[in-house]
Amino acid sequence: MKKQMPGLESLPSKLPRSKTSIFTVMSQMAHKHNAVNLSQGYPNFETDQRLKDLVANAMNDGYNQYAPLAGIPALRNEIVKKVETLHAHSYNMDTEVTVTNGATQALFLAITAFINPGDEVIVLKPAYDSYEPAIELNGGKPVPVQLKGKDFTPDWNEVEDKINSKTRMIIINTPHNPSGRLFTKEDMQRLEKLLKGTNIILLSDEVYEHIVFEDHRHLSASSFAGLAKRAIVCASFGKTFHNTGWKMGYCVAPEILMKEIHKVQEVNVFCVNHPMQKAYSEYLKSPEHYLDLGKFYQQKRDKFLSLLKDTRFGMKPSEGTYFQLLDYSEITDENDVDFSKRLITKHGLASIPVSVFSMPGNDHLQLRFCFAKKDETLEEAAAILQKISG
Ligand SMILES: Cc1ncc(COP(=O)(O)O)c(C=O)c1O
Repeated sequence: MKKQMPGLESLPSKLPRSKTSIFTVMSQMAHKHNAVNLSQGYPNFETDQRLKDLVANAMNDGYNQYAPLAGIPALRNEIVKKVETLHAHSYNMDTEVTVTNGATQALFLAITAFINPGDEVIVLKPAYDSYEPAIELNGGKPVPVQLKGKDFTPDWNEVEDKINSKTRMIIINTPHNPSGRLFTKEDMQRLEKLLKGTNIILLSDEVYEHIVFEDHRHLSASSFAGLAKRAIVCASFGKTFHNTGWKMGYCVAPEILMKEIHKVQEVNVFCVNHPMQKAYSEYLKSPEHYLDLGKFYQQKRDKFLSLLKDTRFGMKPSEGTYFQLLDYSEITDENDVDFSKRLITKHGLASIPVSVFSMPGNDHLQLRFCFAKKDETLEEAAAILQKISG
């Protein structure tokens, strides 16, 4: 007789702490209540028709089979040129670049290639929600360090205290989601000093690299010699070119790191979308497509802020990204999760409560609003916020 085996429900989850993401929860609520949706980080306007035409042309021209593992040479060449021009660091297009399925896959590749069971990874919180599960799936231990206060200032002394012989990696994100803060030169130099003489890898998430305002400058890990030699820098075409659904991105890193990433890529997806790579290799030849992005989004940010200037919402203009935090402490002392839910159900406006990406005890009564939206959507949202502010 066959032995009774436990059912599938007895199988342990590899991510027991993971719940439905706040983005899904907020978007479902927004949908149910027909709310104006400034929660998720994507534009509600179209990507450039020329770029869509380039993809269609590539398909019609027969670029429909597997691409090379690291990406097509023409695109890798454009990426190397772009990084060299902007950050004065030369990567080898054959050995130091990988085109990926969005930045999320680049992050996952980097973590999987280097994190072994028991390794520690320092994560600055609030953090993009894919980092910690990726570390845990590889048996690693996330070591969170909270960015301090309402301004999310890094405490490098605390980071230094957390570094030990098990520390394999530190993940940074600049321009930072959700705060809209950029790391300064002093931040980058302090990090460079901290990591000097260690074998710690820096995973630098720079997906909002081109969305930077006023005289702020994005400082890539690539542009600091001491960081570049240990950094895997991740970028997202989806964020830059208004097509997050295409899931295209890339990472650059020194050969010693990239060769391990290539091994993982080979057994993970092998390669990514060929016609889109072909299209981007043409589109990137015109740098204004990404160099003008800061100006474009600054108009959106300024429009949103000017519509709110007479309200009781506290706002420090975002330095970069397409997110703006609003401090509602003058309006209510409700916690941010409850307030954001009430904002949807009672007022028809969806946002993201910031504390869900932070360590417990760090609710500063702030909500994150995505201003990558049509002007009329921003006007609708602002009208609701004006009413609430009274
Ligand atoms: C900080 C950060 N990193 C990575 C990503 C994901 O980028 P992609 O859509 O290219 O995977 C996001 C998207 O929200 C993000 O905010």
